[in-house]
Amino acid sequence: MEAFYLDWANLLLRWLHVITAMAWIGASFYFVFLDSSLEKPQEPNPDRLSGELWAIHGGGFYHARKFIAAPPRVGGVLHWFYIESYFTWISGFLLFSVSYLWSPSVYLIDPSVANLTSSQAIWAALGLLAGFLVVYELICRWAGAPGKGDTRVALFVAIAVVLAAWLATEIFSGRAAFLIVGAMMATVMSANVLLWIIPGQRKMVASLQAGQTVDPTPGLIGKQRSVHNTYFTLPVLLAMLSNHYAFLTGSDQRLFFLLALMLAGALIRYYFVRMHGYKLGRHGHPWPLGVAGLVILVALIGYSAAGEVRKQQSQAQSPSATLLASGAPITVEQIRPVIATHCLQCHGEQVQMKNIRLDSPQAIEAHALGIYQQVVKLKAMPLNNVTQMTEAERSVIAKWFETRQ
Ligand code: HEC
Repeated sequence: MEAFYLDWANLLLRWLHVITAMAWIGASFYFVFLDSSLEKPQEPNPDRLSGELWAIHGGGFYHARKFIAAPPRVGGVLHWFYIESYFTWISGFLLFSVSYLWSPSVYLIDPSVANLTSSQAIWAALGLLAGFLVVYELICRWAGAPGKGDTRVALFVAIAVVLAAWLATEIFSGRAAFLIVGAMMATVMSANVLLWIIPGQRKMVASLQAGQTVDPTPGLIGKQRSVHNTYFTLPVLLAMLSNHYAFLTGSDQRLFFLLALMLAGALIRYYFVRMHGYKLGRHGHPWPLGVAGLVILVALIGYSAAGEVRKQQSQAQSPSATLLASGAPITVEQIRPVIATHCLQCHGEQVQMKNIRLDSPQAIEAHALGIYQQVVKLKAMPLNNVTQMTEAERSVIAKWFETRQ
């Protein structure tokens, strides 16, 4: 029953996570649009506005205004935006816990990458989440000052992402590595809201209420963190979604795919941010950014397709294809190499998922029906096809089962 309740938890948490993330990222997109679409106010400007904007939505007209530093006073209820961010992180962490941390041997560990124990894998995952946050904080504090050194900070942050992604792919299964890189960056995003953006805003509101002049420093720090969050959004979403695609996570070049996809995401986000300014005539059309993002995506498709063709060609000459082509019945000895490659890490001497061991001909025979069902009929094994079992190999199992006496 445990697996059954875990599935429910997984579904409901995933639902919540997507809803809260939509609310958070939706608000973030909206405010980036607002900020980059503000127009200079008409002169005279007694309210000291830095910009204003008119919009129409849902049958109503809206008039948003942004103040230089702070308004003289806040007229009504002041709305804050942070609950979405916190719940995105909390629901995401719980979702990560009910699958990856609950069953590390299934999700986190790939013995062909690193032969970790369950607790090593759990601590490594948590350590990477926390460690990346610390490194990011150090970079932001040391490489820049409020309102200064933004490019240098951005460069170091990008280098930190590359190194962390490399580390993740050296430690975890491909699927977990992609997710953890996304989660690591998302943790930084939520921490930026919790530790900098909201406290900075609280300081500004407090000075405003005390009738003091508002110090712009917390606003400048908050702005820098908020810009990082803007460029993290699309790469994070991509890292989290792409982990469901075994052709990426199972590839030898998964680190390259992950980084290239995230770069494309950041460029595409940059394109949309610049588009707002372009519409107001502030700078040229940002098409090179959008095109660069799309070119990376198309090049990745081409590159991976070439790899797929090579793989299929080599599979045509694989031992399994040769066995099938011979037309002779297939013996249990002949399927042992297939079982060894694809099953023994979870059903072998060290690990026996569901108490099933497949490391002798007798054991294979004893579980023949189960193997046939799981591999051929349901294609549920190898779990998530972590070992990338080929169709030819499944056919070998099918033929062995169907022709055995
Ligand atoms: C990454 C780990 C992993 C790999 C690789 C793997 N299995 Fe499994 N296997 C599991 C887990 C976990 C379960 C229990 C699943 C459950 O209870 O839903 C399982 C269950 C099974 C079962 C019992 C299914 C049932 O519900 O009765 C069979 C049979 C099986 N595996 C066969 C295989 C075969 C054959 C291979 C190789 C082609 C293989 N497994 C590869 C993890 C793995």
